[in-house]
Amino acid sequence: MGTVEAKKPEAPAAAATGTRSALTLTDQRTGKSYEIPIADGAIRAIDLRQIKTGPDDFGLMSYDPAFMNTASCKSRITFIDGDKGILRYRGYPIEQLAEKCTYLEVAYLLLYGELPNRKQYDEWVQHITYHTMIHESLKKLMDAFNYDSHPMGMLISTVAAMSTFYPEAHNVHDAAVRTKQIHRLIAKMPTIAAFAYKHSMGMPYVYPRNDLSYCENFLTMLFKTPAEDYKPNAALVKALDVLFILHADHEQNCGTNAMRGIGSAHTDPYSSVAGAAAALYGPLHGGANEEVLKMLTEIGSVPKVPAFIKEVKEGKGEKRLMGFGHRVYKNFDPRAKIIKRMAEQVFEVTGRNPLLDIALELERIALQDDYFVKRKLYPNVDFYSGLIYQAIGIPTAAFTVLFAIPRTSGWLAQWGELLEDPEEKIARPRQIYLGSEERNFVPIEKR
Ligand code: CMC
Repeated sequence: MGTVEAKKPEAPAAAATGTRSALTLTDQRTGKSYEIPIADGAIRAIDLRQIKTGPDDFGLMSYDPAFMNTASCKSRITFIDGDKGILRYRGYPIEQLAEKCTYLEVAYLLLYGELPNRKQYDEWVQHITYHTMIHESLKKLMDAFNYDSHPMGMLISTVAAMSTFYPEAHNVHDAAVRTKQIHRLIAKMPTIAAFAYKHSMGMPYVYPRNDLSYCENFLTMLFKTPAEDYKPNAALVKALDVLFILHADHEQNCGTNAMRGIGSAHTDPYSSVAGAAAALYGPLHGGANEEVLKMLTEIGSVPKVPAFIKEVKEGKGEKRLMGFGHRVYKNFDPRAKIIKRMAEQVFEVTGRNPLLDIALELERIALQDDYFVKRKLYPNVDFYSGLIYQAIGIPTAAFTVLFAIPRTSGWLAQWGELLEDPEEKIARPRQIYLGSEERNFVPIEKR
């Protein structure tokens, strides 16, 4: 990036025509004007640094806690228009992908930019299928967890431990090495997730089976026991596959930002995915699906919904309607629409989840209530997904694990893009220091 010279202000007429892709700024402290180039709808924050009050001034920074209006990268993976409720992976609308693809097809699309042809798809599925086993020592490591350990805690730790099993993974600039770790991570996440669940139930682990599809295999590892065989219901397999597609990527959210932040230090992918999963674990992020179920259970019945809504409104942000609201979607979350429709199909197989009526009533009231309407709070992806997971028989504590499995493909796609980006550098934000000026040390007796 070349330096940008301080310039005289543009004539108002020229600026008004909008023909120049630049921003003219006048610093009221000095009276100087600057022309800052605009590209792709953004200015570069580093271009503000030239704006100084004098030679000793560090230069102007932009302050943006929580990255409300800062693009941290250029990406070609996922597009979201939050005002219109649009989500696309590599240009394809999420609705079409959810209807016509398998999750593994979508994972390939995210990672490689194009939908696979038949040969590419078969090879890809073969790679993923043949990497599903985990090292026996990793299994023993999982055994060491307490019987009531949270499955997300187990998943995060076990994925981080994988970096010690595959030391070549540190070679992040070797594309072939990266590909191998991508196969391993996408293949082994369901195995680790299922083992974490079995461990928490005090039941023996069920090893993966290569004759089953990705989701059939996962459900089998979850629900088969040595005492009886298990055949996953085709409608539930399809529902899980669609949920995996909907959760696969969501551009620069908290977890993905963690993945890119850690990855920018050239950390291996296992440690980076563990960090991203830790971010996902939080109740404001992927942990919200678990919180939604707790909330619906706590409300208990439809007549109690208005009192709960009142509490949320009076709590002024202290108590939230979990599964509602989104940083980017200010209209509706397109994923929530698909999930709500799918919930009905799942309940035809499993029987109606009684919590659904409470959820529907919450949504009905919230969508008419001024508090939620004014703040543009709509159901998000987590509002109905937990109801489906529960209907499938998955315990509440394992819900976020079911988010982490498909999000792994998105994290890895974003990580690969980061490493190939010529502008890639270690992520290192600035701060505004508000602490003490320099002061002298005071011995302990004199404090
Ligand atoms: N219930 C009640 N009030 C809310 C909610 C909610 N769920 N979400 C936001 N608000 C209010 C908030 O109190 C604030 O009000 P005021 O302007 O009076 O202070 C206003 O709406 C704006 O909220 P914010 O916290 O500034 O919004 P944000 O963009 O920083 O937060 C969010 C987005 C998703 C963290 C938030 O909406 C939230 O906490 N939702 C509940 C948790 C949840 O469902 N998370 C899953 C998100 S989707 C999947 C994922 O990302 O993993």
